[in-house]
Amino acid sequence: MPLSQKGTELNSPAWLKQAIFYQIYPQSYYDANGDGIGDIPGIIQKLDYLQWLGINAVWINPCFVSPFRDAGYDVDDYYRIAPRYGTNRDLYRLCREAHRRGIKVCLDLVAGHTSIDHPWFKAYCSTRRNRYSDRYIWTPSAISDANTELSLIRGYYERDGNYVANCFYFQPALNYGFARPAAEQPWQQPIDAQGPLETRKELIKIMNYWLGHGVDGFRVDMAFSLVKMDPGHKETIKLWQDIGQKVRAHYPDMALMSEWGNPEESIAAGFDIDFILHFGVGGYTDLMLNKNCFFRRSGGANIAYFLKSYLELAAKTKGKGLISVPSGNHDIKRPRADGRMVSDLKVIFSFLLTWPGVPFIYYGDEIGMRYIPGLTSKEGGYDRTGSRTPMQWGDGPNAGFSIADKERLYLPLDPRQDRPTVERQARDSSSLLNHVRKLIALRKRSPALQADGALIPLQVENNHRHFAYLRQATGERFLIVLNPSAEPSQVRVHGIKPNNLASQICHGTKVRVEGEDLQVKLAGVSYGVFKL
Ligand code: GLC
Ligand code: CA
Repeated sequence: MPLSQKGTELNSPAWLKQAIFYQIYPQSYYDANGDGIGDIPGIIQKLDYLQWLGINAVWINPCFVSPFRDAGYDVDDYYRIAPRYGTNRDLYRLCREAHRRGIKVCLDLVAGHTSIDHPWFKAYCSTRRNRYSDRYIWTPSAISDANTELSLIRGYYERDGNYVANCFYFQPALNYGFARPAAEQPWQQPIDAQGPLETRKELIKIMNYWLGHGVDGFRVDMAFSLVKMDPGHKETIKLWQDIGQKVRAHYPDMALMSEWGNPEESIAAGFDIDFILHFGVGGYTDLMLNKNCFFRRSGGANIAYFLKSYLELAAKTKGKGLISVPSGNHDIKRPRADGRMVSDLKVIFSFLLTWPGVPFIYYGDEIGMRYIPGLTSKEGGYDRTGSRTPMQWGDGPNAGFSIADKERLYLPLDPRQDRPTVERQARDSSSLLNHVRKLIALRKRSPALQADGALIPLQVENNHRHFAYLRQATGERFLIVLNPSAEPSQVRVHGIKPNNLASQICHGTKVRVEGEDLQVKLAGVSYGVFKL
């Protein structure tokens, strides 16, 4: 089922075509001042590493002033870097230093809610009417029930009424209005009421502020959540179209990516990239997370489950925006979990880095850092905490993450003797890290493998556990074969006559020309990227 023979035209900033993103959880990346918590100067010190790896864009999890009840997804001041990470000047310097190395810097924009300590929220709580009284969504009475499916927090303040929480109780929903406010419920303000309009204006101001200081774009947290009771997210889509248009008028090269989990909606809303995730549509769980997902050695499913939903989304968004299949993120288990080994991760990365759209590598996945089960929750992490442990740089104390005493580290390190490190893997040409590095380099020099190169899936009958596909662009074609299963397999590709058959990156796969066909043999847990 060819998507397109020619590939698609990109309706996004040109730099996204070749972008290889890397997600940095700042508190766990590198601690430059020895207080046990990663920081922005620490990221600056590791830019050379990212450049060596071939990364050309980073997304940094929230780094603004916050009480960190949800790791920074509870902002107190959108205009100031959290002191534990450094200063605004450090961030500006990070942008300059990153740009010198050809790396773009994107921040995490928590657009839907603030912390309960934000001065706006404090003013909003007041019984005296003020300019923030409508900054958040309120219901009229703390005692009588409001007729709503929204999650209400009662009794937090003297002001009569409740506020709406987006996620945890301390994340009050900013007021962007309601799609269809009920006439008898005046607290449901229309999107063009003064309160919602002021919230929108403030969000634009925040974006302009950071873009003006060298930031290249934003990953927007819960981007779908802004307008309330909004079937099909129709009004939220219009809201983002408006915001995008206003900000792009000054910053046309800005990249906007959404945590939305439905590219059809988010790309219509003007986002350049949407992630497929553990919620929403797109089949990510069938690919990466389920017990019987495709990337399992045993008990895994055929690629068909993922592929069907992916291809539908790709067709709907073709030429309008891009889809990202991330290696993982701070909200889900790392790929190195549930018995997966480094050899399995090599198959996964062979897929991620030859797949259309924009690859995102979650820090540490490139060396196969483990999900650490059973950790005490930190900053609202709960079972996500095990995916947020300190980056493992080397074999020295604290794996080179920090010179602080072990007890002061943001989170404990992977306790295992054989924990993977950058230092060891950089030296080993057969390591996962060098595999990822080679794939990145190949993608960067091969338009067929980039965001909008055509994707042509081959042979995906239900009984097969392997997956083969072509990627192509003008004058260039690749065959990719993957077998995540422990069982050997074979693929016969009809009617493809290779000009020459150059194996780029492979392990356990053999290709032979047989008449009009290509015969591919795949050992258990194998991959091959061939230039045809
Ligand atoms: C997003 C973030 C997550 C956070 C939540 C609330 O899902 O990725 O980490 O807890 O939003 O802001
Ligand atoms: Ca620090």
